[in-house]
Amino acid sequence: MAASACTRQTGSAGVNQRSPGVCQMTRARSRASSPATRARSAEPRAPWTRPRGDPCIRHTFDVDWTALLSHVAGGTMSHRSLSGSHVVVLGASGVLGGYLARALAGRGAGVTGVGRDGQRLGALVDSLPTDGPDGPLRHGWIGGDLTDAGLGDRLVEHLRSGPGRLDGIVNAAGVVAFGSLVDTPDEVVEELFLTNVVGPLWLLRRTLPLLVDSRGFVAQISGVVADRPTAGMAAYGASKAALAAADRALGLELRRSGVAVVDLRVPHTETGLVGRALAGAAPRLPQGLDPAAVAERIVAGIEEGTPVVPAEAFA
Ligand SMILES: NC(=O)c1ccc[n+]([C@@H]2O[C@H](COP(=O)([O-])OP(=O)(O)OC[C@H]3O[C@@H](n4cnc5c(N)ncnc54)[C@H](OP(=O)(O)O)[C@@H]3O)[C@@H](O)[C@H]2O)c1
Repeated sequence: MAASACTRQTGSAGVNQRSPGVCQMTRARSRASSPATRARSAEPRAPWTRPRGDPCIRHTFDVDWTALLSHVAGGTMSHRSLSGSHVVVLGASGVLGGYLARALAGRGAGVTGVGRDGQRLGALVDSLPTDGPDGPLRHGWIGGDLTDAGLGDRLVEHLRSGPGRLDGIVNAAGVVAFGSLVDTPDEVVEELFLTNVVGPLWLLRRTLPLLVDSRGFVAQISGVVADRPTAGMAAYGASKAALAAADRALGLELRRSGVAVVDLRVPHTETGLVGRALAGAAPRLPQGLDPAAVAERIVAGIEEGTPVVPAEAFA
């Protein structure tokens, strides 16, 4: 645009101020070079807005309706590439965690597995491919209990001294219990919440700064019970609903820092978890999903950056 044709000047965000006949281009340029303006220009803007083409307008944006509608519907327009990233898998010694670690490594991500069973973690890490499309992959593992708040500190130390970065955390750790609430012992209620909610939050408190640096992601398996309360699963369901609530709030809290938070409402899956319940016996359940397919859908959800992957998405 020719300088003489320019008649609009920079106003506050979203507001045009007309000043007919006066070209503000020079003024806009000199403002742009001031530290205050540079700081404002660097501010993240809502993902559904795009700057107007007019170079005189520095803080006015058009609404991108497609992006806004997608955002409201729970999606974002971005696609995250996992190749060359480093991802921590909590519960990598478990069935879903193992499939997830393999699926992530298959996408070219380095993996640090976390769990209590060092033998299974070591075997998993040894089985992962060591080369990805973007070069050699660095894998490792840390044995520890999520109910120990210090696990997050050790993990951060490991990440700083090893891979030197953290791009994502996938939480596939968890325990289950069945039976009426009256029949569920206090210590089981406590362990459900410590493992499924409190431990992951303790660990996220310590690792989120690394994810902010990398504009990374957090993906946590809550489960279908998070939004479909089920008799005989009051304590387990409440712990998973709490995890899902934390994910929604964190998604809002971290939106400006570019960290994606994904809540995974996985339905019943054939991992044998029901046979490892802390207490009670599982109700009769239909045939569960294939864990390998569930892990692939989870990784696709991470790549899409969808805030919630609902149970129906796994069908
Ligand atoms: N399978 C399903 O039908 C289903 C459905 C919905 C949601 N989910 C959720 O999906 C996640 C994975 O389940 P899964 O079926 O793969 O079960 P799994 O094979 O039993 O895996 C559970 C994982 O959690 C880890 N873990 C448990 N307590 C821990 C603690 N205190 N500290 C650290 N790690 C701990 C286990 O580690 P160690 O083995 O090393 O102790 C294991 O790696 C769980 O959160 C589960 O609630 C499962």
